[in-house]
Amino acid sequence: MAAQQSSDIVIVGGGIVGSALAYFLLSFDDRKKVTVVERNLSGFEGSTGYAPPGFVGQFNESEVLTRLAIDSVGEYLKVPGGFDHVGGLEVATSAAGLENLKWRLETAKDRGLEAELISAEKAADMAPDLVKDDNVSALYFPSDGTANPPTIASFFRSEARARGAEIIQAEVTEISRSDGRVNGAMTSSGFINAQTVILATGIWARNLCNFDIPFPIIPVAHPYMYGERHETKPYKSPFVRYPEHHVYARDHGSFFGLGSYDHRPLPETPKTSAHGSWVKDFDKTLDRALKLIPGKTNLVPKEKFNGIFSMTPDNMPLVGEIPGTEGLYIAAAVWVTHAAGSAKFLSQMIKGEPIDATVQKALDPSRFMGRDIGSLERESLHCYNSIYSTYEGS
Ligand SMILES: Cc1cc2nc3c(=O)[nH]c(=O)nc-3n(C[C@H](O)[C@H](O)[C@H](O)COP(=O)(O)OP(=O)(O)OC[C@H]3O[C@@H](n4cnc5c(N)ncnc54)[C@H](O)[C@@H]3O)c2cc1C
Ligand SMILES: *[C@@H]1O[C@H](CO)[C@@H](O)[C@H](O)[C@H]1NC(C)=O
Ligand SMILES: *[C@@H]1O[C@H](CO)[C@@H](O)[C@H](O)[C@H]1NC(C)=O
Ligand SMILES: *[C@@H]1O[C@H](CO)[C@@H](O)[C@H](O)[C@H]1NC(C)=O
Repeated sequence: MAAQQSSDIVIVGGGIVGSALAYFLLSFDDRKKVTVVERNLSGFEGSTGYAPPGFVGQFNESEVLTRLAIDSVGEYLKVPGGFDHVGGLEVATSAAGLENLKWRLETAKDRGLEAELISAEKAADMAPDLVKDDNVSALYFPSDGTANPPTIASFFRSEARARGAEIIQAEVTEISRSDGRVNGAMTSSGFINAQTVILATGIWARNLCNFDIPFPIIPVAHPYMYGERHETKPYKSPFVRYPEHHVYARDHGSFFGLGSYDHRPLPETPKTSAHGSWVKDFDKTLDRALKLIPGKTNLVPKEKFNGIFSMTPDNMPLVGEIPGTEGLYIAAAVWVTHAAGSAKFLSQMIKGEPIDATVQKALDPSRFMGRDIGSLERESLHCYNSIYSTYEGS
């Protein structure tokens, strides 16, 4: 299919972020012409298609991310089959871990998020297959749940299309600029004129970012596994995280899933899929993680894979205008947890609507200006092992 010759807005990338952007940009103002350019429309070959855990834990050390997550859940609840309100558990296995949960409980409540500190017995009652009933305590977030990223992204795509968005399959090879502003995108099926271009290219963000400022968006490898099939349980367990062990697990209905960050961070150079090759060391990572799961569950890996997502030096997404090129925006390193909220925020910025200055500052893509890319990359990788503790840059 040949690309149309001109558009008001071009969005590069049709994962959950690019699709949500098209949806929000056309929500109230259908007069704009919006074109999404995605290299593969057959499925979701980006991180959106390889994020089966779909955990949406709304509480975050960063208040900005907490707000974006609450906003995102509000949107996901409107998507048929998009969100399962199962609740979330954070489980502590040590005295220090428990202290951390207490801090998180108070902070969550201050931010208006419902949370409750519960005993080992109660936690094991809620998630008997995933939590041992001795010597742990847990923080329960009843309003958390699991998202189905491809279902949500497909919904945003089709709603955007119904409102006039053009969604085409092509590879964007270059962003075209002149006199300090963007004027279009070169694609494998021709040039598209546009005064506004948004990069929603996930782990590939840096490929098109040959601008004068550093873009520390570092793709990393991450192991996830599925267990053997099991009978559907008569109860729905909350998803479970073990922050001290960098491990998380959930019930997918007819099998369990488990992932871990407890390994040396591994940068990746993705080709055209967020599905990477299996890393041999990940076997040991999963074995260690499985020790946390009750023996009676008999959870053993049936299928395992390496899914690639992005890290940044401060664990915060990059969402906003790219300085030095008027009309050029980015929304990258955005988790499913914050995708709808971030896309809504950026669409408001682009439409010239009032936006929250605190959010703008925290997500500002120019916040790494003047920093050396080598040390930014190291900081991003370092963040991988502290993924359950994020702090807002000051
Ligand atoms: C194993 C795994 C587990 C995860 N678990 C969770 C979780 O529990 N909770 C959570 O919130 N998040 C989770 N994530 C992260 C989440 O999946 C991503 O943050 C999110 O999907 C990113 O969405 P995106 O739209 O920015 O990127 P993508 O889905 O990668 O979309 C980018 C799109 O851009 C396209 N593209 C790139 N370059 C070009 C180009 N030049 N021309 C045309 N098209 C282009 C790609 O084809 C792709 O479709 C997980 C990720 C993985 C891999
Ligand atoms: C496009 O996506 C589909 C479905 O995810 C996949 O099977 C196919 O290999 C992809 N095509 C290319 C060219 O990457
Ligand atoms: C588990 O037991 C140890 C040793 O008795 C104790 O120090 C720790 O606080 C307990 N952990 C929790 C989460 O209760
Ligand atoms: C806070 O958000 C960041 C960025 O998405 C994420 O890496 C981190 O895991 C989140 N923290 C918690 C406790 O969920």
